[in-house]
Amino acid sequence: MKISYLGHAALALEVAGKHLVVDPFISGNELAKHLDVHSIKADYILITHAHQDHILDVETIAKNTSAKVISNYEIVTYYNAKGIEGHPLNHGGSWPFDFGKVTYVNAIHTSSFPDGSYGGQPGGFLLETEEGNVYIAGDTALTFDMKLIPLKATIDLAILPIGDNFTMGIDDAVIASDFIECNKVLGYHYDTFGYIKINHIEAKSKFSAKNKELILLEIGNHITI
Ligand code: NI
Ligand code: MN
Repeated sequence: MKISYLGHAALALEVAGKHLVVDPFISGNELAKHLDVHSIKADYILITHAHQDHILDVETIAKNTSAKVISNYEIVTYYNAKGIEGHPLNHGGSWPFDFGKVTYVNAIHTSSFPDGSYGGQPGGFLLETEEGNVYIAGDTALTFDMKLIPLKATIDLAILPIGDNFTMGIDDAVIASDFIECNKVLGYHYDTFGYIKINHIEAKSKFSAKNKELILLEIGNHITI
């Protein structure tokens, strides 16, 4: 599985020959202005919650690619009304897609669209595929619910918010990686705005002090698991 960082909480995953985009917020991200939204390939767009910094480029990408949205019922319904197809999930529910199984899991956060309409309850995604299992936490606080994740699957990579202020910060992300029983963490949701700027060296050292690895990718770069 190839996992590319598109800045903020946006990711591009390639698995089983399919292209997955997660929480696309690219055209509004100063740090990602070298990326072209129109060149992004997508078969599916996974959306954790309805906040602007997670959905800004959903319509553009969906219209360019005919990708299907995978999210909670309310978000999928919102995009259905705009002529975009999707697959609705709700918390605890799974579906076997052609690239692997997706479960919509709990997150502690809020979820409303920029126009104020209801975006359902926020979540994260557990992806179980033949190329590895990945937990994408979404915007969330540290929560005991994360202890349920390793009961369901052995996680090869946990993608966790680390920017603090709107989500958990580094210290809680270290604890989260214990709960998830995964020592390989890709950090996201940091540096984009003033409130969430972090010290990279300090963040990595807090993980390495616990014999864990924190990966911070340059925007546009990727890792393979
Ligand atoms: Ni949010
Ligand atoms: Mn956010």
